[in-house]
Amino acid sequence: MITTVQQHILQQQQEISEASGRFSWLLSGITLATKMVEAKIRTAGLSDVLGAFGQTNVQGEQQQKLDVFANQALLHCLGLRDSVAALVSEEDEEPVTFNRSVDTGKYIIVFDPLDGSSNIDVNVNVGTIFSVLRRLPSDTTDLQASILQPGYTQVAAGYVVYGPSTVLVYTTGHGVHGFTLDPTIGAFVLTNENMKMPEHGNYYSVNEANAASWPDKYREYVGKLRSGALGRQYSSRYIGSLVADFHRTLLKGGVFLYPPTKDQPGGKLRLLYEANPLAFIAEQAGGMASNGNGRILDIKPEGIHQRTPFMVGSKREMEALLDGRATDGRAK
Ligand code: AHG
Ligand code: MN
Ligand code: MN
Repeated sequence: MITTVQQHILQQQQEISEASGRFSWLLSGITLATKMVEAKIRTAGLSDVLGAFGQTNVQGEQQQKLDVFANQALLHCLGLRDSVAALVSEEDEEPVTFNRSVDTGKYIIVFDPLDGSSNIDVNVNVGTIFSVLRRLPSDTTDLQASILQPGYTQVAAGYVVYGPSTVLVYTTGHGVHGFTLDPTIGAFVLTNENMKMPEHGNYYSVNEANAASWPDKYREYVGKLRSGALGRQYSSRYIGSLVADFHRTLLKGGVFLYPPTKDQPGGKLRLLYEANPLAFIAEQAGGMASNGNGRILDIKPEGIHQRTPFMVGSKREMEALLDGRATDGRAK
């Protein structure tokens, strides 16, 4: 007996306030787009979708052809859903807004269409990350107020990781659920219900090339992980695609860190469409997510492409980082 993600969302809908079929219709736009991306990735080496697109995006980053394709797939599939008031993409400087009334255009979708672009051409896992916000009823103008809501207001969040298999993970605030794409039927099938992040993991994940420019507390913390101060020997894993590093952390536990660096003192990862959705999922799975000072989900965004330091993982590792509890559990 299989449960597809559409069936699961409809069952979830009974429990969440988005009782209309509108919400599941909206999420089906996301899953359709990710299936289009998945199909493109599977044949990327054969068709002309590898390599640079030849333009830079608002981030000042060289766009990859697959960045552009994924962005267009999401804009197309979601733009057709009349419940969408606005779409915010990592690849577009400004939101795409639709002239829909507050009664129809009830949702804002924020997304990173293709995460891990630097890994596309070397056949390493990449992903798509999305976050769903409810439009504020009073917001009948440029929707900035609805877009710049803190992460705890998210209605849903999820990601797809395109790896040896294609996995979709999402939450609507009622647990975290994982699906695997069955290519023989073209559907995401439920494979992990109510996923929980281990309380204490065996991996830490950080780009150690930046260690010299981190604030001291991060060097000291990684040093403690290495020295066994948390009571176990860790292994280091860093894929360089946030979605893949996060997915491993969700399944195996441990901690992922992208601390402030000299080049990126405000952090590299984006708040709205990388940190917030993954923080929502992490907390729903029993983990924690912080910018090093406070909860990611409490941050009031100032700009749609705002960056943040991002640390996410198991309770044990995150408490050790945040309250300096890095020995046998006694606070320092
Ligand atoms: P994107 O491809 O969407 O721009 O995201 C890339 C991000 C993220 O996927 C990853 O964790 C991080 O960049 C890796 O950064 P470094 O190469 O600086 O470690
Ligand atoms: Mn990204
Ligand atoms: Mn991206």
